[in-house]
Parts: sequence; C-alpha cells; structure tokens
Amino acid sequence: MGILEDKSRARTFYRFLSRVYDRVNPVFWNEEMRDEALEALDLSEDDRVLDVGCGTGFATVGLLEDTSHVEALDQSVHQLEKAREKDELADVDFVRGDAENLPYANETFDAVWSSGSIEYWPTPVDALAEARRVTKPGGRILVVGPRRPSNRALAALADAVMLFYTEEEATEMFREAGWVGIEHTVMGSEYVDDDAIVTVARKKE
Ligand SMILES: C[S@@+](CC[C@H](N)C(=O)[O-])C[C@H]1O[C@@H](n2cnc3c(N)ncnc32)[C@H](O)[C@@H]1O
Repeated sequence: MGILEDKSRARTFYRFLSRVYDRVNPVFWNEEMRDEALEALDLSEDDRVLDVGCGTGFATVGLLEDTSHVEALDQSVHQLEKAREKDELADVDFVRGDAENLPYANETFDAVWSSGSIEYWPTPVDALAEARRVTKPGGRILVVGPRRPSNRALAALADAVMLFYTEEEATEMFREAGWVGIEHTVMGSEYVDDDAIVTVARKKE
C-alpha cells in the first residue's frame, strides 16, 4: 500500500497542496479531460449527483454544467475551504466526510462521480461498494483514477506512493463492489500520455 493511501496522511498532504492545487492540477487533469469524462457519464438535467473527493471543486464546476443537483464531499477541510470560496459553487452543499463511510441514505443519487480521489482510499473496493449503496438502482458511477505506468521502475515508484491500476484491475475492483456494465477509457493531458483511467459502470435495476 502506498504512503498516501492513509486518510490522515492524505489530509496532511492536502493541507499544503490545497494552496496550489488549482495551479498544479492541469498538468495531470485538465478541463478537456474533465469534459470528455462528463460526456461518458451522460447526465440529465434532473439527475442528482454526488461528487466524492471533490477537492477544490474543479470537477464540481463541470458537473454543474449538466445538472444543478450536485452535492459534494471531501475529507480535507483545506480543500473544501477552497471550493467554498468559488462563486460558481455557492449553491452546492459541501460536506466533510469519508468516501468509505458516506453520510447519505441508501439509493439517494442518480449518479456518483469521483475524479482523482480513489488513489488515496485505503480500501477502494469498500468505497466503491459504499458509492453503490447511495446510488439508485439503474444509476451510474464514474471514477477517474491513475493508470499504472508501463515502465517497471516508474510503476514501482508510483505504487509506493498511492494506488495506480490497470484497466483489468479496475474491472476487478468494480465487479467486487457489485457494479455491472463496467467500461474504461484511457486519457491523458498534453504533458502526460494516457495517465488516467476513466471507468463508468452502473448499478443493476
Ligand atoms: C486529486 S484531488 C481531486 C479533487 C477533484 N475531484 C478534482 O477533480 O480536481 C483528491 C481529493 O480526494 C480527497 N480524498 C482523499 N481521500 C478521501 C477520502 N477517504 N474521503 C473523501 N475524500 C478524500 C482529498 O482530500 C482531495 O481533495
């Protein structure tokens, strides 16, 4: 398990990173990638959506272009502080909470979105099952996570820091968590090729 797959360490990490997050983020995860992922989730304007690990609200802003019913959760007060400062997110209900123990009733959301957060979750399958619990039957999930580098030395380094995975490993995690119709798209920024895996899946009716 990587050193940042620990909730307390991840909170400390984001205490500092939150100050520059919006400036550093586009190197790995930019608006073009976000918008392509949003298309894959195919939201309707009535859909109620939860953004898990919303951070400073970068993806939350994108979700609001498709539906006005967006709620967002993060475990870092510092990241949430930055999100709450954004005028365009003034109507979003931000909650401090843990992806592995979501403070919502069963079958609350039409869709769950999570970008760039799964890599910090100590038990990702449990968190994916928790996302499934709060999703309505027939609802969808979209998760953006880091793709394990093909270079062996880089992969070993990456694994020492946080969760990186292949498409096959993603399929296995989502299947174990009870999701069906699992599909992946690989994308990358202008600086890093194919560094992100976007997984879309649904909850059985
Ligand atoms: C790379 S940022 C992604 C932020 C945003 N989703 C985006 O697309 O830019 C990862 C976020 O996941 C949050 N996070 C990590 N572990 C978490 C957990 N167990 N529960 C909730 N949030 C978590 C971190 O605090 C951080 O804000």
